[in-house]
Amino acid sequence: MTNKLELYRCNVCGNIAEIVLSGYGKLVCCGEEMELLIPKTHDEMEEKHVPVIEMKDGNITIRVGSVLHPMEEEHYIQFIEAIANDNKYLKRKYFKPDEEPILTFKCECKEGISSRELCNIHGLWASSEVTHDR
Ligand SMILES: [Fe+2]
Repeated sequence: MTNKLELYRCNVCGNIAEIVLSGYGKLVCCGEEMELLIPKTHDEMEEKHVPVIEMKDGNITIRVGSVLHPMEEEHYIQFIEAIANDNKYLKRKYFKPDEEPILTFKCECKEGISSRELCNIHGLWASSEVTHDR
């Protein structure tokens, strides 16, 4: 059984799959069951991974993280997602190693949002803490 918006990784080939709509089966890739990615929410080091969500006048800015994560060829943020708390909307931005890991967009987001990001080395991280700056 899968759940909407879960992320799964194949530990053989690196495929990442997101559940668009849930079903009863198990996801299999390269002959093995895929691993459900569970986001971490606290970074013991310098908070370079936990997304920081700011809302100001209907503009959302999501940074990874409070100290910007390195964006190098071997170690970088692969994507950031913003997800409405009622799971009705999803926004995803992909990054290349030389780009800043920041996602900005306009949204009243009255239902509230959370964010998650994937680091190619350190995995999945999430936050639902939104700072309102008016
Ligand atoms: Fe990292």
